[in-house]
Amino acid sequence: MAEKKSTPIGKGTRIILFTGKGGVGKTSVAASTALLLSRKGLRTLIISTDPAHSLSDAYGIEIGPYVKQISDNLFAQEISVIEAINEHWENLKGYLTGLFSSQGLDPVSSEEIATLPGFDEASELLYVDDYFKEGKYDAIVMDSAPTGESLKLLSFPEAMSWYMEKLFPISRTTAKIVRPIMKPFSSIPLPDDSIFRSMENLYQSLKEVRGILTDERITSIRLVCTPDRMSMNETRRAYTYLLLYGYPVDALVVNKIFAENTGEFFHGWRKSQEEILKEISDSFQELKIFRLNLSREEPTGLERLARMGKDLYGADDPYSVYQHSIPVSYEKKGDKVVAKIRLPFASKDRLNLYNKGGELVIELDNWRRVFYLPQTLADRKPSSAEFINGYLHIELI
Ligand SMILES: Nc1ncnc2c1ncn2[C@@H]1O[C@H](COP(=O)(O)OP(=O)(O)OP(=O)(O)O)[C@@H](O)[C@H]1O
Ligand SMILES: [Mg+2]
Repeated sequence: MAEKKSTPIGKGTRIILFTGKGGVGKTSVAASTALLLSRKGLRTLIISTDPAHSLSDAYGIEIGPYVKQISDNLFAQEISVIEAINEHWENLKGYLTGLFSSQGLDPVSSEEIATLPGFDEASELLYVDDYFKEGKYDAIVMDSAPTGESLKLLSFPEAMSWYMEKLFPISRTTAKIVRPIMKPFSSIPLPDDSIFRSMENLYQSLKEVRGILTDERITSIRLVCTPDRMSMNETRRAYTYLLLYGYPVDALVVNKIFAENTGEFFHGWRKSQEEILKEISDSFQELKIFRLNLSREEPTGLERLARMGKDLYGADDPYSVYQHSIPVSYEKKGDKVVAKIRLPFASKDRLNLYNKGGELVIELDNWRRVFYLPQTLADRKPSSAEFINGYLHIELI
């Protein structure tokens, strides 16, 4: 079994993101983790990216769309896409207004922009980028929406960069958009320079935020599940997809375990939970596993959440990096280099690989990633790929 390394409290902002199936306890676990961090003296910000915000309910304190201090060292925000657009995207809004009105449509409002695909993901990520760069917090805890939505959020920066590079010729090294090459479509106005600049900034920010969220020294993704088969299966898939996108997962919280003294009625449940807990331990040996019992009362309010945090982490420090996962590694093999992508629980029949115009596309179930090589290997081309023991091996020549 891999040794669970942990990094002691040090300098620099940590980002801890909780994800998992609906209702398993992500918000409660995130809220208790943030509270514990703040009570250890770390300046902590918790942000909710789930549009169905329940952070206010968890703490029993009204939070709202702006950062609000809710306790010593503890700050919270329930992100509103509309506020985010107003704050970040004046330029883009101006362009879209011009574009829409040139087509005889009414000027767009933030509310309308907010419904366009990708805008909510982008605005959440821009906040993370801002808060990280400001360096005001020791820890940023993210309470996210159920698995599918979180994966959409985390796969967004790459997908968006891909589109932007296709629509506007952007040099990947300088991130400069080359304006003259873009041909104006008949009546659609070509954006002016300020819009190009704001697009460059957006592109740059998304690149940055992906860099931050994939850096295992900064970010830890923690999976939350309950000890039942459906939740375990979803967690396995989520773990694989997160690694496909290169995100560092360091721990798994198994929540709502029935204690011994839950009586005859829960006997059958306790037995099945025990079996699933064993399967979970075997399946996720490479992660730190935390177990948390179902509590007697709903864990809401600062005091109950503080107790939950203590029960959850015990002597462990939530700021630690429990596992330095390396989703992609590179090995030299004579003249060739082999990129190895960890994809546990994947199987060959669910994977689809193809080379599209020199770009290697990896598809797993409904998730798709265009695999870009790091700068140092940029002149190499993928020649073959195979799936061996939970690793995808890609040969680069
Ligand atoms: N260990 C626990 N013991 C008892 N109740 C719990 C525990 N963990 C969470 N709960 C309760 O379970 C319910 C769902 O929890 P929570 O809202 O944290 O889940 P979630 O995963 O964030 O849900 P969603 O997917 O809707 O965002 C809440 O009522 C919460 O108080
Ligand atoms: Mg929640």
